[in-house]
Amino acid sequence: MRFQLTSGSIVNAKVDGIILHLLQAGKKYPRYFNEIDKALGGALAKRLRDVDFKAEVAQVVSLNTLGKIAAKNVYVVGMGEETKLDSFAVSKAYAAAARKARSENVANLALLYSENKKVENFFQTAIEGILLSLYRFDVYKTDKQQSGIQTLYVCHGPQQTAAIQKQLKLAQVAADSTNLARDLVNRPGSDLYPELLAAACRRLFKGKPYTLTIWDEKEIKRRKMFAYLSVAAGSPRGPRFIHIKYKPAKPARKRIALVGKGVTFDTGGLSLKPARHMMDMKYDMAGAAAVIGAMQGLERLKVDVEVDGIVAATENIPGGGSTLPGDVVYAMNGKSIEVLNTDAEGRLTLADALSYACSLPRMSEVINIATLTGSCVVAVGDMLGAAMTNNEAMLQRLRQCGEAAGERYWQLPLVDDYRDHMKSDIADIKNIGEASTASTIIGGLFLQEFVKGVSWVHLDIAGPAFSSKDQLVSTKGATGFGVRTFLRYISSL
Ligand code: BES
Ligand code: MN
Ligand code: ZN
Repeated sequence: MRFQLTSGSIVNAKVDGIILHLLQAGKKYPRYFNEIDKALGGALAKRLRDVDFKAEVAQVVSLNTLGKIAAKNVYVVGMGEETKLDSFAVSKAYAAAARKARSENVANLALLYSENKKVENFFQTAIEGILLSLYRFDVYKTDKQQSGIQTLYVCHGPQQTAAIQKQLKLAQVAADSTNLARDLVNRPGSDLYPELLAAACRRLFKGKPYTLTIWDEKEIKRRKMFAYLSVAAGSPRGPRFIHIKYKPAKPARKRIALVGKGVTFDTGGLSLKPARHMMDMKYDMAGAAAVIGAMQGLERLKVDVEVDGIVAATENIPGGGSTLPGDVVYAMNGKSIEVLNTDAEGRLTLADALSYACSLPRMSEVINIATLTGSCVVAVGDMLGAAMTNNEAMLQRLRQCGEAAGERYWQLPLVDDYRDHMKSDIADIKNIGEASTASTIIGGLFLQEFVKGVSWVHLDIAGPAFSSKDQLVSTKGATGFGVRTFLRYISSL
């Protein structure tokens, strides 16, 4: 999408559609609304009365202007009560308006630059709502839809261009990075196995400020990542360990790592999943995609911290060489793990990826993101991630950034007493708990065994990684959840 800034009045904008948002504010309409309404001979206010418009969040009303102003259509979208206004309301409202406009074959749109003190970077949030909701994945469609919104005109007052440019850029980076993650996740398992994910990274991270390291099975063996390798054992398509380094031009103040679960397809292995649980499992690399998407945004944001993006990519499929339930494997940090269920594979790959991340020099914070447990979907649904930590203050900061970015997390406690559930008869720990209770927390406790000397947050995004329908700023399918949290968080450091 192209953006064009204009200081001309929106009443004169020669476009297919104008978007106007309205807060619930008694009987009085804002000045910009009255200006357009007047040019339309009162038709807009009449239409809102006719449909009993309540300015509820994302309630959209469209009106054909019948040639009375230059724009062909006006889209009025509600944004709820001002007292309740937050980033979710803003992005959701603009997403709804953009969807409606596209459904009416609008090719170019105009909107007013606006801010609201209740939502920091209001304008950025609105543009993110538009860009994210218009995402389409048609790589495999033989009949690709050509229609879509091409140009967005931003009407503004004098001296506002700097703020607009800045927020536009932030919104574009956030949306491009999120949509990149969505593209990766939406690709079928046989079209994005570990080698192809590594190849995608080679295309994405060429040269400064990035350094890319990719290890194949032989090198992973040499590094003694046997927990990770045990997941790859059944697959003829080998694993790839991907390490993306981002180094700012100036000496970095801080070094952090993002570690993403990259199981490109999870059949469960020999502990095979039933068909209804397997069909969505191409999404099991959504954590990896969130890391790759965010890493890709760092260059454009010119952040000044050093960031390591780490993905231990593998398939989890049964085969002649598969790990057997009951096998014992040794992780990179020397701990022995009894693999009682080969479907609890994410934690095995992350065990070694986390050990590696923590071993990097000057590492201070590690965040991992994973579609780790089905029970997380039961606990918090598809709108929230679950978060666990060894550092409360770090998690609070991360959650705040997520909230501002339109991504919510709910904290689960890493209750020490539950460690007993991981006791193994013959090894240091086993990879599942007892009787499948507190399974999301057990997942977090298991990962914690491989975290050393750093502040750490574990994000379980099994629910929000994909969406069963178009909702909020998400489209059906992969959501790219986590990318925007990471970009805001890293920018805030
Ligand atoms: N990838 C799944 C978790 C998952 C399930 C994500 C559904 C999204 C939707 C993970 O590898 C898995 O299979 N976890 C098991 C763990 C159990 C065996 C301890 C689970 O949640 O059932
Ligand atoms: Mn699994
Ligand atoms: Zn999995």
